[in-house]
Amino acid sequence: MNSSNDVSLDDCNEANWWRQAAVYQIYPRSFADANGDGLGDIKGITSRVPYLKSLSIDAVWLSPFYPSSLADGGYDVDDYRNVDPKLGTLADFDEMATALHAAGIKLVVDIVPNHSSDRHEWFKEALASPKGSAARERYIFRDGLGENGDLPPSDWDSKFGGPAWERITEPDGTPGQWYLHIFAKEQPDFNWDNPEVRDDFLKTLRFWSDRGVDGFRIDVAHALMKDLSEPLPSKTELPVEGTGVDGLVDGSHPFWDRDEVHEIYADWRKVFNEYTPPRAAVAEAWVHADRRARYASPQGLGQAFNFDLLQADFDAAQFRTIITKNLAEAAASGASSTWVFSNHDVIRHATRYGLPAGGGRHGQEWLLDGGSPAAVDAELGLRRARAASLLMFALPGSAYLYQGEELGLQEVGDIVDSERQDPAFFRNPGIEVGRDGCRVPLPWTAEGSAFGFGAGRAHLPQPEWFAGYAVDAQNNVPGSTLELYREALLYRRHLLTEEQLTWVRADDAVLHFVRPNGWQSVTNFGSGLVELPVGIVLISSGPLDGGKLPANTTAWIV
Ligand code: GLC
Repeated sequence: MNSSNDVSLDDCNEANWWRQAAVYQIYPRSFADANGDGLGDIKGITSRVPYLKSLSIDAVWLSPFYPSSLADGGYDVDDYRNVDPKLGTLADFDEMATALHAAGIKLVVDIVPNHSSDRHEWFKEALASPKGSAARERYIFRDGLGENGDLPPSDWDSKFGGPAWERITEPDGTPGQWYLHIFAKEQPDFNWDNPEVRDDFLKTLRFWSDRGVDGFRIDVAHALMKDLSEPLPSKTELPVEGTGVDGLVDGSHPFWDRDEVHEIYADWRKVFNEYTPPRAAVAEAWVHADRRARYASPQGLGQAFNFDLLQADFDAAQFRTIITKNLAEAAASGASSTWVFSNHDVIRHATRYGLPAGGGRHGQEWLLDGGSPAAVDAELGLRRARAASLLMFALPGSAYLYQGEELGLQEVGDIVDSERQDPAFFRNPGIEVGRDGCRVPLPWTAEGSAFGFGAGRAHLPQPEWFAGYAVDAQNNVPGSTLELYREALLYRRHLLTEEQLTWVRADDAVLHFVRPNGWQSVTNFGSGLVELPVGIVLISSGPLDGGKLPANTTAWIV
């Protein structure tokens, strides 16, 4: 099969930089800590620009660095147009942006439009203002049910567990209205029917674009619009949510993936296009695959994540179906495809692929069981993760990588409860362990305080075994995961070609495809050795065996 979206390399000018970019996600509080307070910061990122450059990535995406009390790792924003004082200043931000740009790296920042934090000026004003006031209209306040209004307006659950409504105390001290929060209670949902909310986000997009930000990652892009017509349905009447093929296709859910949300992004696109080159955007939209194109259209955000590979097993048939479908979809929408195996919300893929078969492919069972490293075949997981990543780098479209995956880092599954930070853990006791295990600060050196992350104790505990994954333990070490990523991303930069692939072989054991310029990628998902095609083996994710490709290995041939 041949997937094409008619975009030739000639079109890949400056305006299209994102179409096949390698984008490295930084979780700022866990990347590098310059001031030794245990929390990563902006100056830490700036100090590591040479490292980022050595990876041959095209862009970094920063998870939120805005002022926040960290009820949800920074996805609870107090002020959208500032830097968290714990992380630095706007001047530090400008310095970082300049350093990244000087290194040829674009800068993408996270925008969190569905909810602010409960410490945002507007929310404080809403609490201090009476029912029905303009200040309350920026959020979603409702009277409670029951005689005294002491029952929530509906029985909906928040994504992190527990009720999706929180009751406030009115300024006069009496129990009052309730507000909607589809995430933690510290994350009140905005009312996107309110023009003030819309205008303020346009201001935010311009604020960062004017500071030289090249693109935006839009947090829960599918949640902003809500149908809250009364009576609110009970949770048992809500359409069942889901993503991928299990998702809804008709926009009928009261708060996920409603059609009206695209009016917002059409307005945003006008702002993005005020700039030269136009600002890029990628939607985090957990929606049915058939509805993803709406977010990714050129009149909308331009690109949308697909989390299909991230949710798949290391399995040739699953990979092939996903790749084929997503390339066709991207071609139809005018976007380029996106690929991702790891991010700050999921168990690292080097660990996922090493979990016992049947142990739950997303690893939640393993975490609930205590997340012991002993239960993971880390070697197998890493071998597969390297093969999968090398395959991803050869695919048409953009590759999103998450800090630490270039080190082959494993998930820290066994963080003690008293050290956990994720609201998913606190709001869902015994059901969810949360996402802290992929957010543990990076090991830069095998020795030294916090493994070189910073002078202070890292804000999440780093296990002893981090030493083996440290940057300095892998730097210039042939065959290390760090050198594999560096080499692969450098080759990729030179090999990029039209956004097409042709399958040469795609069966249960092998995925072999070729790009228009003759760049071939072969992955062995089976157990035997696989004969490689004639040509030069540029790179392989593990050693070859007598010139043949061993199990769980990818090679590129030109
Ligand atoms: C997104 C983020 C996640 C956050 C949630 C609420 O899914 O990736 O980390 O908790 O939105 O903002």
